[in-house]
Amino acid sequence: MHVNRRRMAAVRSIRWRRTSQRADASTPCRCTAAPAVACDILRPVNTHTFPTLRLLAGAEFRSGEDIAAHLGVTRATVWNVIRQVEALGVPVEKVRGLGYRIAHPPVWLDAAQVASHLGTGAARFDVSVVEEVGSTNTLLLEGAVAGAPSGTVIAAELQSGGRGRRGRTWISGLGGALTFSVLWRFEHGGAALSGLSLVVGLACARAVTAVGARGVGVKWPNDLQSAGRKLGGILIELQGDALGPSAVVIGIGLNVRLPASLVAAVDQPVIDLVSIGGTDDRNEVLAAVLGELDICIGRFQAGGFAALEPEFRKWHVLQGKDVGVHLPDGTRIDGRVSGTADDGALIVRTEEGDRRFHGGEVSVRPAARTA
Ligand code: BTN
Repeated sequence: MHVNRRRMAAVRSIRWRRTSQRADASTPCRCTAAPAVACDILRPVNTHTFPTLRLLAGAEFRSGEDIAAHLGVTRATVWNVIRQVEALGVPVEKVRGLGYRIAHPPVWLDAAQVASHLGTGAARFDVSVVEEVGSTNTLLLEGAVAGAPSGTVIAAELQSGGRGRRGRTWISGLGGALTFSVLWRFEHGGAALSGLSLVVGLACARAVTAVGARGVGVKWPNDLQSAGRKLGGILIELQGDALGPSAVVIGIGLNVRLPASLVAAVDQPVIDLVSIGGTDDRNEVLAAVLGELDICIGRFQAGGFAALEPEFRKWHVLQGKDVGVHLPDGTRIDGRVSGTADDGALIVRTEEGDRRFHGGEVSVRPAARTA
């Protein structure tokens, strides 16, 4: 496989240059139907945005002149940056005569904090935090090609081109979500890894529950839900051939504290960690997920999905539910979920007998009304 040597060196030292990851500012916004705020979220941020955020995160107000002098920019630029910060979901307090302040600054991502929460488990991971990136998955896939080791983690404060399953866009604001990718190397090829995506969902459900979230479940194959709303999503991408070895990039997006503007911008019911009792310390959440991935993927490597199926069943929100499975060809198969197979397939009991599904969109059918 051809690998650019300079690129490989950069990836090995996990010093991806932020500028090389920024999308072209003239890239048209892809969220055509969403309100303007969502489009702002998907645009790459101004180079002064993160320095301004750091200046405003203290208890004191900072005047526009002060910020402009610190950054070496005009007052008009400061005003534009403040507007962008707000559009990204971080409210800025403005008081005439005093200036600007972020009253409730998010807990910024910090690799040292993640390591401290992980304790001895920290040795398994190499965590890098980037301020802004198109997609952590895309960046880590490049890292995988260039030889980054298993356990490499990239977490981003902001993704301007986050990717979801089935080619969807994954939107997350600044500081209100946890978006990261983990590289896992396996000796086996893709066929032996079926079931992994369910295992990752299980690990995430255990982790967010451990940091206080209540009522969390996994909707096959690996959506994290609470109260029927989406709490997080997982995008698993694989490199390698069928016989192995393979490199798997596990991309995870978790809603931690969603701004109302973003809730309005997404096309499905969503929920965040803080509203179900979870912490808003994203470093703690990231450490908890990494710790659980280590445990659950270890069990998966030793015994396959079968080793985790009894536990998955307890977290599985579709277990025993009447569902419709919507297939890519437009057809819908109705039945009752009886479980998941050793290869991670969803088993649905239909009038024609049990059917197994490896893909498709599943919706819960409302219970039939009784007279
Ligand atoms: C889904 O459609 O439910 C999966 C969403 C996965 C989003 C995460 S955020 C971190 C990583 N980087 C991406 O571009 N996508 C995943």
